[in-house]
Amino acid sequence: MPAAVSTVLDHNHPLVSGVTAESPLVRAYQGVRQKRTPVWFMRQAGRSLPEYRDLRVGVRMLDACLDPELSSEITLQPVRRHGVDAGIFFSDIVVPLKLAGVDVEIIAGKGPVFAHPIRTMEDVLSLPDLDPAALDPVREGVAHTVAELGATPLIGFAGAPFTLAAYLVEGGPSKDHIRARTLMRSQPETWTALMGWTAHITGKFLSAQVEAGASAAQLFDSWAGSLSRADYVRYVAPASVRAFDAVRNTPYTVGGETRHVPLIHFGLVGPQLLPEFRTLGTERRFVDAVGVDYRTPLDEAAAQLGSDVTLQGNIDPALLAAPWDRLADDTHEVLRRGRSARSHVANLGHGVPPETDPTVLTRLVELIHSIDVDTLTHASPQSSSTQKAAAP
Ligand code: CP3
Repeated sequence: MPAAVSTVLDHNHPLVSGVTAESPLVRAYQGVRQKRTPVWFMRQAGRSLPEYRDLRVGVRMLDACLDPELSSEITLQPVRRHGVDAGIFFSDIVVPLKLAGVDVEIIAGKGPVFAHPIRTMEDVLSLPDLDPAALDPVREGVAHTVAELGATPLIGFAGAPFTLAAYLVEGGPSKDHIRARTLMRSQPETWTALMGWTAHITGKFLSAQVEAGASAAQLFDSWAGSLSRADYVRYVAPASVRAFDAVRNTPYTVGGETRHVPLIHFGLVGPQLLPEFRTLGTERRFVDAVGVDYRTPLDEAAAQLGSDVTLQGNIDPALLAAPWDRLADDTHEVLRRGRSARSHVANLGHGVPPETDPTVLTRLVELIHSIDVDTLTHASPQSSSTQKAAAP
């Protein structure tokens, strides 16, 4: 392995020590096409796994996230079971808010619920700061996990400022984030202050994971799809830039070549916002990879986003409960279309549904690893699933 140095990352960091620097996942994010497509699943840890359900008996979600041994073990479960190409640190987007002192709980079957919704400038100004030491359980959990994972990279993640702000303003899950969008448009100063706070807090959460050993960093802006493009660019993208800035300058060199920790940006955004997920309202490519939800075919996404960004996705999670042939067909189709991008990391188009049969996920990983993408022809009407879809 070539010796690497970094002025930012610790010499023990798996990218700097070389342990994960040439892994298929990291190199695919950095634009190097892999013959066998690397794969991981959003929400691969969690309720689809019986071994997870066993560990969670009597333990609240956020307590599990903040127990370094437990969070580490839960992160490793799907890696052991499915043979995926990455772990994603077991935590939640609201963990840094909780660590700052915000009163939040995660209710099973519902999601995060806040005791005091944030709706005025006074509310925003009363939000606490995050003591850096409060992130210690996250750092410890990541360090422990990375030591166990060895050559398999760990992905760190955080919620994007908009998705977090939408939860904070609504006080919990909502369908179309009406209150958040009203605040954005009617009290822009309050909105900007709130986005500044969430960007700062979530950026710290992300950088804690990268510093402790994560080899890639993904920002989830799950709810950004409720925004118009203009509102996204004006009221949201600058805060996401700030969150990413916390992990953007991470040079390390491998054989004289300078590389950075790859940045991935995912949202349920559909085609109208997708180009902004590459640029975040700037004039250039801002991230290394864009996670595409299941609604936009990857070749269309590649045509929109250009050839300087890796695509991640986008098997429809609904197919995990469909007959195997349908899932296998769709997977071939996704990999075929993924060839239009500079490189491709296979994933679902959103998270694993809790009722998923985990043996299907293991089989799916085996299938994806067995496909030599060079033998797939470009997406064409001859593909079996297109033929079936076109049949009367
Ligand atoms: O394996 C992984 O992907 C890592 C773990 C992870 C969790 N949450 C664990 C979790 C990740 C990456 C998240 C991110 C997250 N959390 C997002 C962004 C991704 C997305 O799904 O769009 C969002 C919006 C949240 C907020 C949240 N937390 C929701 C909507 C829920 C589901 C509530 C439910 O029970 O249906 C949670 C809880 C949560 N986060 C669970 C897990 C495993 C389930 C809690 C449980 O096991 O009881």
